[in-house]
Amino acid sequence: MRKIDTGKLVVITGPMFSGKTSRLLELLEREMRAGRKTILFKPEIDKRYSNAHVVTHKGIALPAIISPIDSKARKFILEKSKGFDVIGVDEAQFWDPKSNLHNLLEELVFLKKLIYVSALNKNIKNEAFETTSKLLSSADEIYTLTSVCAKCGNDATLTQKIRNNKEVFKKVIDVGGNDKYEPRCRNCYVQYRHK
Ligand code: TMP
Ligand code: MG
Ligand code: ZN
Repeated sequence: MRKIDTGKLVVITGPMFSGKTSRLLELLEREMRAGRKTILFKPEIDKRYSNAHVVTHKGIALPAIISPIDSKARKFILEKSKGFDVIGVDEAQFWDPKSNLHNLLEELVFLKKLIYVSALNKNIKNEAFETTSKLLSSADEIYTLTSVCAKCGNDATLTQKIRNNKEVFKKVIDVGGNDKYEPRCRNCYVQYRHK
């Protein structure tokens, strides 16, 4: 294994459909090819799914461990990460701000571990996710990805929630895909009106 000289926190951010998870897996795969022991965490947001393997595009499988997202996250992630050189976290925006995910991951960085995290930039109301904001300030390196606007094809930096062809702003935390959400550019994004 190529020795890790210094730890680092790499954050991959952007709207939905910008390829964050693919990039995360690509980066983890590079590390695995360098012979580094790699582990991936996913948030416990949907209790129907237990631990699973995520298979990268090139067919490499790695265990994805379902982590608590509340104050229990710290102990859980520290414990499970023991003996691993590289730690991936997908959908980090879902960790409760009270979990202080950024502090915990920085602790691991100071232990010379490489951390790769993907996190949604904004919610459907164009508001920050607190956990993402904190991760971005803690990051050593940031990849900002864009999607393609579903309306006009420009680079999309925001995510719009759609129901019956109308822009909606209800239920800000709501797991889903292109059945509910689409990427939009600044011109096409419909803003939430604060009453
Ligand atoms: P993704 O970034 O990997 O595409 O996944 C984003 C997840 O976050 C997806 O399950 C939908 C969910 N989501 C929310 O819960 N609230 C939001 O405001 C947005 C934009 C997405
Ligand atoms: Mg994803
Ligand atoms: Zn557009």
